Amino acid sequence: MKAAVRTKYGLPGDLTIKELDIPTPKDDEVLIRVHATTANRTDCHVLSGKPFVMRLFTGLFKPRASIIGTDFTGEIAATGSAVQSFKVGDKVMGFGGAFTCGSHAQYFLLPELKATRAMVTMPANLNYEQAAACLEGAVWASMQVLGSKPQAGQKAMVYGASGAIGCAYVQFFKSYGVSVTAVCRMEQAALMRSLGAEKIIDYTKQDFTKDDERYDMIFDAVGKTTFVKCKKLLKKNGIFGSSNGAINFLWILVTPLFGGKKVVFHFSIKIREALEFTKGLIEKGEFVPVIDRTYPLDKIAEAFTYVASGQKIGNVIIKMD
Ligand SMILES: NC(=O)c1ccc[n+]([C@@H]2O[C@H](COP(=O)([O-])OP(=O)(O)OC[C@H]3O[C@@H](n4cnc5c(N)ncnc54)[C@H](OP(=O)(O)O)[C@@H]3O)[C@@H](O)[C@H]2O)c1
Repeated sequence: MKAAVRTKYGLPGDLTIKELDIPTPKDDEVLIRVHATTANRTDCHVLSGKPFVMRLFTGLFKPRASIIGTDFTGEIAATGSAVQSFKVGDKVMGFGGAFTCGSHAQYFLLPELKATRAMVTMPANLNYEQAAACLEGAVWASMQVLGSKPQAGQKAMVYGASGAIGCAYVQFFKSYGVSVTAVCRMEQAALMRSLGAEKIIDYTKQDFTKDDERYDMIFDAVGKTTFVKCKKLLKKNGIFGSSNGAINFLWILVTPLFGGKKVVFHFSIKIREALEFTKGLIEKGEFVPVIDRTYPLDKIAEAFTYVASGQKIGNVIIKMD
């Protein structure tokens, strides 16, 4: 099988495509044949080993995993003798966690217990590449959305709405009947409206903090604004969340002490719940994949270089042969 392999923390150019033996599942493992995966921002962190704190989980000086990759669509190619939850031929999609599951390879193994928590059967109305665009960004966004318990009629602003997490936020909020303002370049206005945004603010042309609407929720999907800048846009008990930014995490501790507007970060280990939530919306036609580019595995270094530029619209797919 082909796999993208690295031996150290580094840059996309440190990934090389190698021919390796297809792994054999132990009694409690499933072998997954990957049809599509993504190169995403979580993978970028795992590839570079930055921020440094994540090395506590991925290996301090040298990465523990030589093959990275966090999400996948594919099929069960083999099962260990004790596996009961899956059978050969099942079409599945999943998210193997923030610290990689080795899906940037044509085949990889998952213990059955982890597989039951981290993957679901594929929705019938998407192909492998389309379904791969409904995983990493959607899992992160769904944690915040489910944790915020949105109500129909509320107003949400999504800052950085054109990225993988942002496109998912817009669609999730819309599914609850929340009115969404998307902050992104005007070039993405048609896409944002098709996903359900009612209002677009081009952050390159206009100061979004001067918007005269007041919001129940503001989520910064790209970690490029702050609670302090957005505070005046929030209603009395409005919430602010961000995908990034140490300062925002400080506010998570401080703001609940004072009541009123606060900063939240909802983290959940219930990955299956997040996947089922997205899958349910896909099947109802309320969540559609947003794909910017598709690369073959051989060109994964180019894919990572593009993703690391921070310019992708939605998702970058890696298609296996
Ligand atoms: N906390 C977590 O658990 C977690 C997990 C995964 C990812 N992350 C972080 O979340 C962030 C977003 O991830 P993602 O996958 O959604 O990113 P992404 O897809 O790479 O987002 C890129 C998009 O953001 C837009 N953008 C860039 N700068 C912007 C700005 N200043 N204002 C508004 N839009 C801007 C870009 O459009 P234009 O530049 O063309 O406007 C592009 O469409 C990353 O920084 C990543 O590190 C956090």
